[in-house]
Amino acid sequence: MLLGFDIGGTKCAVLIGEQTPGNIRLVCKEAMPTDLPVYEMIEKLFATAERLLNQHQVAKTSLSGIGISCGGPLSSKKGLILSPPNLIGWDNVPIVKMATERFGRPVLLQNDANACAVAEWKYGAGRGYNNLMFLTFGTGMGAGLILNGQLYSGISDLAGEVGHIRLADLGPVGFGKSGSFEGFCSGGGIAQIGQFKAREMLQVGKAVAYCQNVGDLPLVTAKSIAEAAFAGDETAKEVYRLCGYYLGKALSLFIDMLNPELIILGSIYGRAETLLRPAMMEVIEKEAYFESVAACSIVPAGLTESVGDMAALSLATMCS
Ligand code: BGC
Ligand code: NA
Repeated sequence: MLLGFDIGGTKCAVLIGEQTPGNIRLVCKEAMPTDLPVYEMIEKLFATAERLLNQHQVAKTSLSGIGISCGGPLSSKKGLILSPPNLIGWDNVPIVKMATERFGRPVLLQNDANACAVAEWKYGAGRGYNNLMFLTFGTGMGAGLILNGQLYSGISDLAGEVGHIRLADLGPVGFGKSGSFEGFCSGGGIAQIGQFKAREMLQVGKAVAYCQNVGDLPLVTAKSIAEAAFAGDETAKEVYRLCGYYLGKALSLFIDMLNPELIILGSIYGRAETLLRPAMMEVIEKEAYFESVAACSIVPAGLTESVGDMAALSLATMCS
């Protein structure tokens, strides 16, 4: 049996799964918002896990491993969450030590993007590929790399912290940096672009479907803009086009750098592919080396909305 924790900037989940031949069966899941101070939140996750294990009559001793998939930067080797931009106050958290003491079973902590890359590689769109990249594109932007059939983490487990890459001198803020990849391509980043565009339109007396008054600007979200875009609002469509443009800029760098066979885009891309893809592909075809572009497929997550669950449980299968 497998226990998983998926820890993100917006929500967390506790998962119990069972390894089956070639797959993982989800036994149960409980999700909750990430809304408590760090050590209270961890206590809530651990207590939830204990309750779920009891309810499903899974003894702690029958757990072959515990996977913790978490937004980084973090050190998998040291079992330490370092200082994630989307988990305020989660600094130098020895979560592996805490989980080991509590559950008495092997624990593996891994960056959520890395864990998603593994899950998609083993169970999703990446099956049969040896060179792929997974991009989270949710609350944060992070990448997981499978290179030559292995997870590549870098010397300090910081490979794939691509949200930190600056794509423009000015722009929305992400990872504490304006104009960063996470600034342009994340839930909060899309909201910032949407607010900026809406303000411009409202100032010249034009209507914007997702925001009627300047006072409502703080309520604008990536989701409300997407809804307006799907309903045909031009400003909302332009927000996603701009995001798709910067997504294409970043992917062009990765394609030239890594020559991957497959790039898998999570979360927001899966929900807004038609809004993002034309601008993204236009840039990639212009910027990246054409033979590398031809060799690379760009797809949404094959595990769709359950990639995060499978990511945490995949780590649990990798414990030793
Ligand atoms: C973090 C990455 C993480 C991503 C998604 C980014 O802000 O730097 O480590 O993978 O968010 O959670
Ligand atoms: Na990574």
